[in-house]
Amino acid sequence: MVIDTGMRIETSGAFVHGVRGDVTQLEALNQNISDAPTIRWRGLEFDLPNQDVYPPKKASLLLASVATSRVQPSDRVLDLCTGSGVIAIAVARIAGVASVHAGDINPHAVASASLNASRNGASIVALVGDLDGPFEPGLYDFVTVHPPAVPYPAPGSWGLSWGMEIATNGGIDGTDVAIRSVLAAKRSLREGGRLLLLLPRWCHFERVLDVLRGNFRDITESAVQPIDFFPATEGRPENDAMGHMQRLVDARAIRLEENNGTLFSYASVIEAYK
Ligand SMILES: C[S@@+](CC[C@H](N)C(=O)[O-])C[C@H]1O[C@@H](n2cnc3c(N)ncnc32)[C@H](O)[C@@H]1O
Repeated sequence: MVIDTGMRIETSGAFVHGVRGDVTQLEALNQNISDAPTIRWRGLEFDLPNQDVYPPKKASLLLASVATSRVQPSDRVLDLCTGSGVIAIAVARIAGVASVHAGDINPHAVASASLNASRNGASIVALVGDLDGPFEPGLYDFVTVHPPAVPYPAPGSWGLSWGMEIATNGGIDGTDVAIRSVLAAKRSLREGGRLLLLLPRWCHFERVLDVLRGNFRDITESAVQPIDFFPATEGRPENDAMGHMQRLVDARAIRLEENNGTLFSYASVIEAYK
């Protein structure tokens, strides 16, 4: 996997231009945009140019709803793990925030976020990189993040696309990137700034909460919703991925339930102050 962390894409209104990056590469990434499925939510539209970008799902929209109700137009907002850009774009368009930065390690996601921003007339700066790597520390009033948090057996996978594996792989108990995201958010926030973290209970929720308690204050659960465990249906689980989940359930590390043959868990938005 080759990731160009030097690529920078700025989106402003209808314009998408690479500042240090390769625009031709971005155009190639999005050449199938006209065939892409469209997701609509609260007057916004999201095109998904390829299967390597995580589409806005119910959990994404839960975080977008909470975020738009918390931020003020003058806030500086950083959306880590931006994917399609849904949260960054919602904050810019629905809450009218002028300064929205977004990052993702997957260049396809950053290109998609930039195109979705243009399509919705949102002004965001989207950068490729590992979590807070490309962003100035101590600057932001809010950090939003919906990290990959699906447990993966080692070795083994859920048989998802390359991009969807990056978007879901949270390591053995689902917490690897979530914990790193909490620490990245702490570095990025100003004193008194606020983290909004989307965390599913199909990862080892308590382990992430412990790290939050050690680094943030006034931690609250602002919203909870049931969400389908999509890797079981959208992927082709291999190497005993389901058995791995069952063992985590038996150890009371994660929560996964069944309703009429559909596996589901719960997604929470955790709010915490630096
Ligand atoms: C669960 S998806 C969330 C996407 C979007 N924020 C949403 O709510 O729909 C997680 C995203 O994190 C990105 N990601 C995974 N590891 C990352 C890392 N180390 N640094 C930055 N982004 C990462 C993936 O590429 C993916 O787009």
